[in-house]
Amino acid sequence: MPRLGLGTWPMNDAQAERAVATAIEAGYRLVDTAEAYGNELGVGRGIKASGIAREDLFVTTKFDRHWHGRDLVPQGYQASLDRLGLDYADLLLIHWPNPGLDRYVAAYEGLVDLLQDGRLKAIGTSNFKPAHLDRVIAETGVVPDVNQIQLSPAVTRDEARAYHQAHGIVTESWSPLGGQGADVLGQPVIAAIAEEIGRSPAQVILRWNVELGLVAIPKSSNPDRMRENLAVFDFALTPEQVAAISALDQGESAAVDSDAFGH
Ligand code: A2P
Repeated sequence: MPRLGLGTWPMNDAQAERAVATAIEAGYRLVDTAEAYGNELGVGRGIKASGIAREDLFVTTKFDRHWHGRDLVPQGYQASLDRLGLDYADLLLIHWPNPGLDRYVAAYEGLVDLLQDGRLKAIGTSNFKPAHLDRVIAETGVVPDVNQIQLSPAVTRDEARAYHQAHGIVTESWSPLGGQGADVLGQPVIAAIAEEIGRSPAQVILRWNVELGLVAIPKSSNPDRMRENLAVFDFALTPEQVAAISALDQGESAAVDSDAFGH
């Protein structure tokens, strides 16, 4: 799995088509979409337009709560593939646990079936808390490959990261730059480090993800910023810089995917 990919929320089909083609051209090899984004069609068109060989690309998508059932997941997966115009996804995620519905274990069983049938390369979850992961692991005996969660210097998710590390689960950061409207990029600590090492604030944050062993999927529709975000593999941060960035954490309650969301 590539360490850095393109996030595509909130892009519509036309924006996603353009962005994905541009990103692949710029060197991106991981593209992240979801049924709920309503842009799988555009993502698929962008992939096709890029001319890249399918096996050179890592495509992630996610399914919604109406597919939370062991026999429903293959149907939801096929519907995503039809929109994407692909034969397979590399990684399929349960988008939200939706604990109020309480069907995420059955959904996960559907994912395990697809994995064992060879229809997926990897399976995982998104926005799952350790308690949700505990249940799917206990009830199926299969550890997810990836848990994709909101993670940035403002929401460092220490408990989740420790849990993932202990179980060998890849942590994937959504909205690694803090998302639209957040002021993570503008933090003086980030600006000072950026200034010191001659890199941009976004590059500092994305390199912080790399230093922590995370996979990050920043969203950008702008070709220059896309290239900037990918150029984080030719420098490093010191442990002190990593710690200073991690100290910006505002705690679990600052996360969008707190228990209040996703019912
Ligand atoms: P844009 O698409 O115009 O580049 P996140 O991935 O954390 O949700 O952040 C996405 C937001 O950050 C988008 O508004 C995106 O705008 C902006 N963004 C992406 N890359 C950069 C960058 N290198 N510098 C500043 N803003 C960026």
